[in-house]
Parts: sequence; C-alpha cells; structure tokens
Amino acid sequence: MTIVRQLAEGDRARVAHLQQQAFMLPPERIAIAGNYPLEQGWVVEDGGTVHGSLRVQKLGQFFGGRAVPCAAVSSVKVASEARGRGYGGALLREVLETLREEGVAVSSLFPVHGGVYRRYGWEFAFAHQRRALPISELAWRPPTDAAGVTVEPFEEDDLEAVSAFYRSRAAGENGPFDRDEAWWEERVLAPRFGRTPYRYVARAGGEVCGYMVYTHEPSSGTLPYGFDLDCRDFYWDGPAALAALLDFVRGHAGMGQRLVWPGPPADPIELVLTGIAPTVTRRMAGMFRLVDVPAALAARGYPEDVEADLRLWIEDDVLPANAGPIAVRIVDGRARVSGPGRDGSPAGPASRAARSAARVDVRVLAALFTGQLDADTAARAGLLPGVDADTRRTLRAAFAGPAPWMAEFY
Ligand SMILES: CC(C)(COP(=O)(O)OP(=O)(O)OC[C@H]1O[C@@H](n2cnc3c(N)ncnc32)[C@H](O)[C@@H]1OP(=O)(O)O)[C@@H](O)C(=O)NCCC(=O)NCCS
Repeated sequence: MTIVRQLAEGDRARVAHLQQQAFMLPPERIAIAGNYPLEQGWVVEDGGTVHGSLRVQKLGQFFGGRAVPCAAVSSVKVASEARGRGYGGALLREVLETLREEGVAVSSLFPVHGGVYRRYGWEFAFAHQRRALPISELAWRPPTDAAGVTVEPFEEDDLEAVSAFYRSRAAGENGPFDRDEAWWEERVLAPRFGRTPYRYVARAGGEVCGYMVYTHEPSSGTLPYGFDLDCRDFYWDGPAALAALLDFVRGHAGMGQRLVWPGPPADPIELVLTGIAPTVTRRMAGMFRLVDVPAALAARGYPEDVEADLRLWIEDDVLPANAGPIAVRIVDGRARVSGPGRDGSPAGPASRAARSAARVDVRVLAALFTGQLDADTAARAGLLPGVDADTRRTLRAAFAGPAPWMAEFY
C-alpha cells in the first residue's frame, strides 16, 4: 500500500541516496540532502520501502506588496527503479492537501518536467533570469555621483540591515521570497562547489543602499586564473548605489572577465548601460500553484487605484476544496473573498449568478495571479474560454505589476 508521510530520522540515509541518484549535486548539498529539519521532508513508501521524497520550506512570497504564505517545493525525486508507477504523483497530491490544511496559500518550484507538476495544478508563472556583460564593457550613463556611497565587506553583523534592505526591495516586486534566516544561510550565503561567496554592502549616510553576494566562477575566456563575478544577489536602490557597485565591479577588470547577475525580466540596468547590451545567459521557468485559491487572493496586495468585483468559477481537478464559485471584491489594495470554504460562500446549490460565472482553470489563474500572463494574451491562446472582455479587463487591472521573478534558483 502506498503511504505518504513526513520524513523520519530513519529515512535520512535513503533520502540522501535518492537525492544523490536523481541530481548532480555539489558536495555541500549532498551533505544537506536528507539532513534538513524533519518537518520539511515528505516521503512516499510502499511495502516498507521509501521510493521517493520531497522537501517543503515555508516562507512568504511577495505579490502586490504583501507576503503570501508559500511552500517552496524542492528535491522532488523517485528512485530510478520506481518511476512511472504513480509514486511521485501520490506524493505531490498528499503534500498539497496537507499544506492547504496547514494554511499554505501558494507553492513555487523550479521544474525539470513541467508536465508532472502541471498535472498537479502548478503552472509556469515566474522566472529566474541571469544576464552577463564583460566587465571591460561596463559603462553607464553619466553623470552619477557615487562619491557619497561606500562599498565595504558585508560582515556577519550586517545581515540584519542587509536583509531588511532586501525585504524593502523585494516587497515591491512580484515573486521574490520573504526570506527567513535559514533561507539566507542555506540558499544565499552558503558555500557551493567549495566556493564561499564574497559579499559587499553599499551604504550612504550609514544606511544600506545596495549589496552584492557573488562567487568567482571559472570563466570561458583564455586568461589563466580568470574568473566571472557570478552574483547570487545584486540589489541596489538609486543611481548612486548602482554606480558605486558597478565601480566596485569594474575594479576587477582584467582577471574578472564578466559580471553575471540575476535580475527582473525588464532589468533597469539595461537602460543605464551605454556600451554593448548584456546577454541573457540563463532563464529558468518557475512554476506556481494556488494551493488555497481564496486565501491566496485575500493575502496578496492589489494596485491601490483598482476597485473591482470579480466572479469566477474555479476549476481544480486535484484539490476539490478550491473548485467552485468565488466572488472577489477588490478595494484599497486588498481583496475580500467569498467562495469555497470562505465567508459568504453560497450554501447548498450554487446560485444562478455563480453558475454563470467565468470558468478559470486553477493553473491559468496561477499565471494571471503572478502577473506573468496577461488575460487578453491568455484568451488569445484559448486559455480563458467563456471569460468576457469586462472580466478580462478586471483581471488585467487587478494583477498588473512588475513581471514576476526571483533571484534564487533553488
Ligand atoms: C519527476 C518524478 C519525481 C516523477 O515521479 P514518478 O513517480 O515517476 O511520477 P508518476 O508516475 O507518479 O507520474 C506523475 C504524473 O505525471 C505524469 N507525467 C509523468 N511524466 C510526465 C511528463 N513528462 N509530461 C507530462 N506528464 C507526465 C504522469 O502521467 C502522472 O500523471 P497521473 O497521476 O495522471 O498518472 C520522477 O520521474 C523523478 O524522480 N525524476 C528524476 C528526478 C527529477 O527530475 N525530479 C524533478 C525535479 S524538478
């Protein structure tokens, strides 16, 4: 019999083995595999054998200026000999149901197989994108006086101020995590492939106005000992902070071959640079799921000037608790939601108005929610059949905002 349950102490060696078999991991991450807190791990077992597992880390994810309770899913794997027998699916389904009961509203992950996660209700809905530029080409639009900005090593003591700065920047974007300390330590600051990141913080008048966390990575150039400055985080606020950090990077020209950094799909750095354009070196598509549709809609923020009513009929073939009519009243940047399992949810058979509401698949709604998919574009692709132009206008206005992205690929 297939059983899905939380990770137990006795599973750690097996989970580490599965992890090592499924992914080409840096040695530091093999040490982590199966050694994270037990409450983060889930396994699928049959006949006394653990066939697969995954990891869940709970943290906020910013949308519309508010942190939505999110489950970051990673390390999904099934033993090579047990694939294609339903274990992965059973694991995803059961974990989703439990997360919903635990108050998780949304879930994010980076897939290898989009089809498996789409089957369970995730959809492509944000991206991790990296650009690169030869350091020798770093020239930006003058005049920017960076004289008042210092760039100094980012010490252990600076983490509180830097993470507050990150939060102030990330909250204005769609998609970044509201990182906790454990996430910072493991996902941003920890060594990988034996390389401990360098980290620097920019300050103006004593206040953090930017920072970068990067490793020196082997470069493709022919120069012996040359390297790329490969950023995990590159955040700045204001032209002086950007100029100071770029100046700092330019000081590496020679051995330093390229600056590589994660940034938003529309990166303002592209508009500031005056030399050759950066190239996109990597784009990893992220998938997103509305685990609890009403909770997710109620938790995110909306543009302050939007006042609207949305009536939708959610279709969710995996989590039936999400399925059915939903009414959303958006005003003053917040939404009041009544629908499946929420205040005012229609008791008994759905009303006629509810039954005539526009039907939206939970996957399509996920891509609209993050701001990646535009409602008119979705309609053109046949993804919003029966959704009228008024409803599409409301969807566009409600979910308008910066294109979704995150700095980390996890
Ligand atoms: C991805 C993985 C976890 C899936 O586990 P699994 O036990 O083989 O998957 P299942 O047999 O439960 O299939 C899950 C569902 O996805 C569907 N599916 C599987 N592969 C698919 C594909 N490439 N495209 C579309 N759907 C697919 C199956 O049809 C099944 O749907 P169903 O529940 O309606 O039958 C497993 O193949 C694996 O460990 N791969 C190697 C590690 C890996 O790549 N992990 C993913 C990292 S993001």
